[in-house]
Amino acid sequence: MKVMVNPEKSASAIQLFWRNFRRNFFEMGAILPSSGALAQAGVAYLAQKQKPAQVLEVGAGTGAFTREIVPLLQPGDTLDVVEINPELMTHLQQRFRQAPAFKVTAGVEVNFITADIRRVPFQHPYDYIIFSLPLTNFPPSMVEEILNLMIEHLKPGGVFSYVKYIFIGRLKYLLGGSTVRTEMTANQKIIRGFASQYQIERRAVWRNIPPAWAYYWQKPHHQ
Ligand SMILES: C[S@@+](CC[C@H](N)C(=O)[O-])C[C@H]1O[C@@H](n2cnc3c(N)ncnc32)[C@H](O)[C@@H]1O
Repeated sequence: MKVMVNPEKSASAIQLFWRNFRRNFFEMGAILPSSGALAQAGVAYLAQKQKPAQVLEVGAGTGAFTREIVPLLQPGDTLDVVEINPELMTHLQQRFRQAPAFKVTAGVEVNFITADIRRVPFQHPYDYIIFSLPLTNFPPSMVEEILNLMIEHLKPGGVFSYVKYIFIGRLKYLLGGSTVRTEMTANQKIIRGFASQYQIERRAVWRNIPPAWAYYWQKPHHQ
């Protein structure tokens, strides 16, 4: 019998993710790396690209999305990978050096940026932003700041994709105290405001623990 091993679920990636989750739930927002199915949903629009593209990944973690992004890149493309956690970034860079799935095609430029996304000195706007920060953990002012920044750094016609767990928000709302509920309601309002302007599609991904939505927002061509 052939056993299929998902490389993202390798013991070291899971252990590292779990250790960091226990240390810092606020930034991690997940106990496990995303599944291949969720990562493929996150890169669905990038997979249809027709011309050289500038790509930004936000919150790379152990590289679940990155390993789906890398094979889609062709000469002339650039990828900026942002991750706030130095330990996770070191692990990810090691994967680029060692893992065949992270082999970069000649002529593709990859930049690793270990920083808070709010402090990154962006050099140019992006055609695609692949985003997996745990927005529901953040206070409303931070959610608004980050989403404004993402839209600001998207090219006209560019696509921003982000993922959010399907049931966890509801559970957190029901179990949380009044402060949590007030923050969550304010966050929902902010995200709905952006979605009403930019959302073009959403997909449910059941093959993830827990299941998640993938959302796609597009900046209008004339904005
Ligand atoms: C839910 S995890 C997603 C990790 C990975 N993309 C995946 O899907 O398995 C969120 C990641 O965002 C990173 N992160 C959280 N806040 C950040 C910030 N302000 N700037 C950059 N990265 C951040 C965390 O360290 C963590 O690796």
